[in-house]
Amino acid sequence: MKVRLVSSVHFSAAHRLHSESLDEDTNRRTFDKCNNPSAHGHTYALEVTVEGEIDPATGYVMDVAQLARVIRERVVEPLDRRHLNHDVDFLSGINPTAENIAAGIWARLQGRVAPARLARVVLNETEKNRVAYKGETP
Ligand code: NI
Repeated sequence: MKVRLVSSVHFSAAHRLHSESLDEDTNRRTFDKCNNPSAHGHTYALEVTVEGEIDPATGYVMDVAQLARVIRERVVEPLDRRHLNHDVDFLSGINPTAENIAAGIWARLQGRVAPARLARVVLNETEKNRVAYKGETP
């Protein structure tokens, strides 16, 4: 019997949407206000879903405190109160859209939620916009 467990957390960060593979005009047209050279900030809401069998002894898919600890160490500490274009190794050289941040978060958590497995990462950038990533289809 597979069950999904969800852990939620917030972090705040600044970013500027800007692609090195586009010229200045196209960057301005594509990203509009989000291309503002002085950047802007968000309070991101992250939901990490893991999936696994219920351990008959504990009744847990995994220890939710352990899941929260992994998310804090691997994601929140490197991202919280940072400038995503400049301060974060795993986003270096990457345009920090919600899509790219979510894919980067997936890679940071992949293989680190045993005995469960990573099922989905949802990153809410605003109350109206969120992205979901489930990893590559094998
Ligand atoms: Ni933004």
